[in-house]
Amino acid sequence: MNKIAKRLEKVELSDVRKIFEVTNKNSINLGIGEPDFDVPENVKLRMIQGLEKGFTKYTSNKGCIELREEISKKLKMDNCVHVDSQSIMVTAGASEALYIATQSLVNKGDEVLIPDPGFLSYKACVELSEGNPIPVKIRFENDYKMKYEEVQDKLSSKTKAIILNSPSNPTGAVMDKEDIKAIADLSIDHDFIIISDEIYEKIIYKGKHYSPAQFSDNTILINGFSKTYAMTGLRVGYLTGPNYLIEEMLKVHQYNTACVSSISQLGAYEALKGPQKYIENLVKEFKRRKDLILNGLDDLGLEHTNVQGAFYVFPKVKNTDDYLKKASKSGVIMVPGSGFGLSCENNIRISYATSYENIQEAINRLKNIL
Ligand SMILES: Cc1ncc(COP(=O)(O)O)c(C=O)c1O
Repeated sequence: MNKIAKRLEKVELSDVRKIFEVTNKNSINLGIGEPDFDVPENVKLRMIQGLEKGFTKYTSNKGCIELREEISKKLKMDNCVHVDSQSIMVTAGASEALYIATQSLVNKGDEVLIPDPGFLSYKACVELSEGNPIPVKIRFENDYKMKYEEVQDKLSSKTKAIILNSPSNPTGAVMDKEDIKAIADLSIDHDFIIISDEIYEKIIYKGKHYSPAQFSDNTILINGFSKTYAMTGLRVGYLTGPNYLIEEMLKVHQYNTACVSSISQLGAYEALKGPQKYIENLVKEFKRRKDLILNGLDDLGLEHTNVQGAFYVFPKVKNTDDYLKKASKSGVIMVPGSGFGLSCENNIRISYATSYENIQEAINRLKNIL
C-alpha cells in the first residue's frame, strides 16, 4: 500500500536547496535568498535579556500582544492599513503565513493565481491545499512587473485568490500603484482574496511600496522580519486580514505551531520598537551591490530588467544548464530560473546577498568562462 498522502504527489522539493548541497567552500554563492548581515545589536540584547528573565513560556496563540500592537502601529504608519491587534497573527515566518492563508481559503479544485516567475512556495502551498495554481505571466518587457490586464485575463468562476509579491523574488520588480489598485478593485468586483506577500517591502531602490490592503478589505497581508532585519533563522512573520478569516486561520496556526518562539517574538518587538537606521544601512549596501552586479551583467552581455527592489536579478541566458555548469565549475553558484515558473527556462536567478568583494570576484570568474 502507498503510505504517502496523494496530495503530496505534485509537490516538489525546492531546486534551490538541491543546489546548496553541491556547494563547496571556495564557491561564491549567489543562490541564497538570505541577507548576509547580522541581526541588529539591540535585537540581540533584548533576546538575551528575555532569556535571562525567563521569557520562555508559551505566548498567546496569535502572538504576544505587545508585538501585535507594534505591528498594528507599523501597518498604520507604513501601509495606511488600520487593523487592531486582534486582527493580527504572528507566524513562524512569512512561510507559515502563506501556508495558513492557502490552507484556510482553498478547496479542492479552486484556482489560485500565482506570479510566473514567482517564489517557489506559492505553487507548493496551493498544491498542498489541493487547489490549482494558475500562472499569471509576468513579462520581461514590463520589467517583470505584474500587470492588471494579465490578471484579469486569468480570472474564472473558480478563482479563489491571487498571490502578489512586490518587491519580487526572483525578479526584483516593484509593482506600479495603478496595477495594485486595479487588482484590488478586481478582488472586490469578483470577490476573491489577495494574498499579498510583502516580505521585501523595505528593500526598495526606486519606486514605492503599496499594499493592496490599503485599497481592498479582501486582502491577507503577509510580512515578516527575515529580510528587513536579517532575522531569517528566528522565524517571525505575521499576517492580517478580514476578521471573519482571522479566527479561521487561527485554527491552522494553533494546531500547527501553537505559537511562535517567545524569544523570537521579543526580538521582533525590539526590531520594530528600536531605531530603524539599520534598515537604511542595509538598503544602502544592497543598492551598492545591485549597481555592481547590473554593471557586471552588462559587461557579460546578459540581458536583465531594471531591478527596483529585493536582492535578486533574473537575467536571461541562452543555454541555462550549460551556463550554470560552467559557472559552478569556476566556483560561482546560481539558481536556474526553471524553478520559478513555466516561462523561466532561459533565466537564472542571482542573489546579491553576499559581500561586494564576493560579487566582484564572481563577475571576474564569469568573465573568464566566456
Ligand atoms: C517572496 C518570499 N516570501 C516569503 C519568504 C519566506 O520568508 P520567511 O523567512 O519569513 O518565512 C521568502 C524567503 O525567501 C520569499 O522570498
